[in-house]
Amino acid sequence: MDTPRPFAPRPEPLDEDRYGDDHDELDTELDAAAESVGRRRVKVPEPAPLTEHGPARVIAVANQKGGVGKTTSTINVGAALAEYGRKVLLVDFDPQGALSVGLGVQAHDLDATIYNLLMERGAEIDDVILKTNVEGMDLLPSNIDLSAAEVQLVTEVGREQALGRAIKPVLDRYDIILIDCQPSLGLLTINALACADSILIPLACEFFSLRGVALLMDTIDKVQQRLNPDLKILGILATMFDPRTLHTKEVRQRVIEAFGDLVFEAVINRTVRFPETTVAGEPITTWAPGSNGAEAYRLLAREVLIR
Ligand SMILES: Nc1ncnc2c1ncn2[C@@H]1O[C@H](COP(=O)(O)OP(=O)(O)O)[C@@H](O)[C@H]1O
Ligand SMILES: [Mg+2]
Repeated sequence: MDTPRPFAPRPEPLDEDRYGDDHDELDTELDAAAESVGRRRVKVPEPAPLTEHGPARVIAVANQKGGVGKTTSTINVGAALAEYGRKVLLVDFDPQGALSVGLGVQAHDLDATIYNLLMERGAEIDDVILKTNVEGMDLLPSNIDLSAAEVQLVTEVGREQALGRAIKPVLDRYDIILIDCQPSLGLLTINALACADSILIPLACEFFSLRGVALLMDTIDKVQQRLNPDLKILGILATMFDPRTLHTKEVRQRVIEAFGDLVFEAVINRTVRFPETTVAGEPITTWAPGSNGAEAYRLLAREVLIR
């Protein structure tokens, strides 16, 4: 990517970054965390390397609640999948453009974004795709223009399939396409669910986080009935987990009671490392490679590959 990035000094070491050298200690802690919610940890295998790529599995990262870690999870699970040799395309499908910004792209002065692909006949996806600083991971950027698409699409025939049409030409080139959805269940999110194989739902370990899930499940149901009968729930990811509070443990426990095996083994702790990565414009896997956060997203990537 050619866009200049803000100067980001290397992070000061934190206690939680020690896992780079001490996997046993991390293992013990993860075992304890699993046990505290009445679960046994299963070992998730390292994925086998690939000799060829595609066709892509399309995963929508969605939850209509904002601030639950959709964008953070899209960037970091994408980067971890790329570390495992997968070819990854990240689709920024939120007019806020946080995914693009989080990868160091100055989205407001881009000539071509996903908006052009959706709305202009003859727009070429290769003119819009950008390389990121992560080897094997590309980006389909967006900016505020995308909010106009949501309005303009409403009157079009096949309005729910616009994103599916746009990404079709590159399905063969990638192993995984991750769509970062906006925090609503509007037409853009419906487009993502209509073309996805599955949905990954980040859920913050906070008291009210379960309230909105019924509405999301309702929407998934409707999409399955009317637009995409093959849409599956890939899994539910507990985010913003604070191992020091009883409260977030209780919330995670309730999530597991409600959704059982759909809940990923990987848990994303609340840590300052993630806001730091946004400023740095890079994923946690390169920003703090040995951190608990980086390890958690690697585990999530492995789980995604076996589901
Ligand atoms: N595990 C985490 N711990 C602490 N802060 C986080 C974590 N995940 C995300 N954040 C921060 O919380 C804010 C919202 O996260 P984001 O991924 O943008 O959520 P969403 O896309 O669901 O709105 C961002 O500022 C992000 O840096
Ligand atoms: Mg977001």
